[in-house]
Amino acid sequence: MNPFPDDFRWGVTTSSFQIEGATQEDGRGESIWDMFIRRADVIAGNGNADVACDHYHRWQEDIDWLAKLGVNAYRLSVAWPRILPEGTGRIEQRGLDFYDRLVDRLLSKSIEPWVCLYHWDFPLSLFHRGGWLNRDSARWFADYVELVVRRLSDRVTQWITFNEPQVFISEGHYWGRHAPGLHLPWKEVLLAGHHSLLAHGYAVAAIRSSAVRSPSVGYAPAGPVSLPLDNTADDIAIAYAESCAVTHETIWNMAWWLDPVVFGRYPADGVQMFGAASPTAQPGDMEAISCPLDFLGLNLYWGPRVDATHRGREAIWNYPADHPRTAFGWAIVPEIMHWGPRFMAKRYGLPIVVAENGMSCLDAVATDGGVHDGARVDFITRHLTMLRSAISAGVDLRGYFHWTLLDNFEWAEGYRQRFGLLHVDFPMGTRTAKDSFFHYRDIIASGGTSLPVVSPGIVEPIGWEDCTVP
Ligand code: FCB
Repeated sequence: MNPFPDDFRWGVTTSSFQIEGATQEDGRGESIWDMFIRRADVIAGNGNADVACDHYHRWQEDIDWLAKLGVNAYRLSVAWPRILPEGTGRIEQRGLDFYDRLVDRLLSKSIEPWVCLYHWDFPLSLFHRGGWLNRDSARWFADYVELVVRRLSDRVTQWITFNEPQVFISEGHYWGRHAPGLHLPWKEVLLAGHHSLLAHGYAVAAIRSSAVRSPSVGYAPAGPVSLPLDNTADDIAIAYAESCAVTHETIWNMAWWLDPVVFGRYPADGVQMFGAASPTAQPGDMEAISCPLDFLGLNLYWGPRVDATHRGREAIWNYPADHPRTAFGWAIVPEIMHWGPRFMAKRYGLPIVVAENGMSCLDAVATDGGVHDGARVDFITRHLTMLRSAISAGVDLRGYFHWTLLDNFEWAEGYRQRFGLLHVDFPMGTRTAKDSFFHYRDIIASGGTSLPVVSPGIVEPIGWEDCTVP
């Protein structure tokens, strides 16, 4: 029997700032990324996103590509400063109209829109008022969300509040490698994080109270899930425990971002780790943050290996030099698609959607006019085979969204990391389907049955599922 359910969502994901371009059109306000990019030497190749994939103008063509790919779902993000140029107050109808047209056209092609409300393009005007450090940011965000939901929810039912708070809070506020480019002490970083969690909770409530059609609401943290070094019950139990823990001073983990959202409390190990820098919740905050969700989105790219001697700081983050890697240098570990969903479903009890997964390659158009990205073809096969094994093991897995449709503006990496199923020749913008596009198309058309029947190599050791974490 085919383990992929009939209503499985076969999708792709994009994000507004990375593809839209047209940053100064139709009244769009500036975002923190527009500001950050103006700094010298923060973006590889000194690229900017003024044009990017020019999706703002080529959206019809891009939806035609989605239809050719055969996806039944498409995850897009809405640019907050297109809707509210100053972040609050004055509404820009042309911004709302853009997403309205997108939704209509997607539906006309039988593609279900999955709308993510925040993929990092925070309005610059609100950064000038303190950004996520200002407690009012939670309310600003919820008001913007309500506006979008009022406009689109007669047709849209699938909502995601945030993409990867780990990244926009820590890369943006601690490491300074992403917008807004700050290097703050933990106390302030965690305060900004707390406000973003509050924003998430208020947004979930706003979606539930203002949606026209009954909404399904999720959240998509980055998924640094630990993997067992060996396929033994002991190592799997350790990997599970590590995947649910704050093991050292970093917010690059699941627990800090999911325990508040699902259990209504910060993880005790994290609070102990950060000590006085831990945020102080005001009365009612944790109840608001833990407004119930319908699904958990996981953005799965890679994870460290652990066993009894390699855990916490000692986890094996650096794989051997000859381990297969993406152009970014990320180790390719398809088991992430098995253990990630299993561990997170066990811990949080929510249906799972893989909200992002993909790889960058050094793709180029060949003399025959094709783009022969064999590594990505193999990547998709291996990862979907592992995902299938997680479904067979009983995880309620609702969908897979490949990152991404188009080569695009890859944040600090500029245009040098190509993640698309479609090649884009910058700055001309011509789209060319890569071999992986056709490969994924065929898998989708077969409902997953064209995937090879191979053992995932994971033999289920008895007993690991009895393990618990506090
Ligand atoms: C994720 C981001 C996405 C893209 C991919 C490669 O962390 O959500 O925007 O940059 O990585």
